[in-house]
Amino acid sequence: MSKLYDKNAKLELINRIGFKEHFKADSWEDFNKKFFDGLAPKYDALNEVLSLGQHKRIKKKAAQRLEILPNTKILDLCTGSGDLAIQIAEKNPSCEVVGADVSEKMLEIARERGKHLKNLEFKVGDALNLPFEDNAFDVLTIGFGIRNMADLEKGLEEIKRVVKAGGKFTTLDLGKPKGWFLNFIYRIHFLTIVPFLGKTIFHRGEFNSFKYLPESSKHFPAQERLVELFELHGFKNVKNYNYMLGSIAQQIAVV
Ligand SMILES: C[S@@+](CC[C@H](N)C(=O)[O-])C[C@H]1O[C@@H](n2cnc3c(N)ncnc32)[C@H](O)[C@@H]1O
Repeated sequence: MSKLYDKNAKLELINRIGFKEHFKADSWEDFNKKFFDGLAPKYDALNEVLSLGQHKRIKKKAAQRLEILPNTKILDLCTGSGDLAIQIAEKNPSCEVVGADVSEKMLEIARERGKHLKNLEFKVGDALNLPFEDNAFDVLTIGFGIRNMADLEKGLEEIKRVVKAGGKFTTLDLGKPKGWFLNFIYRIHFLTIVPFLGKTIFHRGEFNSFKYLPESSKHFPAQERLVELFELHGFKNVKNYNYMLGSIAQQIAVV
């Protein structure tokens, strides 16, 4: 497993970019919460810029690919401001949708955005210690959240616990494009443009949080490795779908 995913590299990275000093955070979980609480008011605008206006279209396509059945129960984990949960609840009125996240501030925005939906609720919940019974859901989705888990493998075990056997799991996140030219463009975007935008438009205090995104990409497994990791953890029929030339990727698996 360690060859596919090194959680120590991630912790070392977070120390290096100065999160301890800036966030006064003692643990990865604490950092995550403070980071996303602070980002919440700007998060939706930032998403538009970073994805070149494409993120909603891609989330919609990703949700369609799941082929959700009527009257099922869906958990959108790391739900943030609720994009995926809201889209799924709107499209599937007979389904019960729950969005869970560690950031109260993100959830406040999600609740406001989803208040017209009766089949949707938002709850505080840590992906590594979910406040749900075993086999509580038929489908579990994660949009741009799996890379934030302090311990990806523990997160996968929690997913298997709360999703019924035969249910579906999907994650959509940044991927790595293939070929030197695409990789070059991708690296320019993430190593120069993203930190620049972060610093000039979305900067908070003295800490440029946007160093985290490109740096964390270096340590996060590419889509092919993620497929292997999911298979090693017993997920079945794991499929990968690329968007924007592989700079975003979705995996769908049977639990
Ligand atoms: C990049 S945002 C993605 C939000 C949303 N899913 C989307 O696609 O726009 C990542 C979210 O994961 C949440 N998060 C990070 N670690 C988490 C954890 N251990 N458990 C639950 N949520 C977590 C953050 O608070 C944040 O809202």
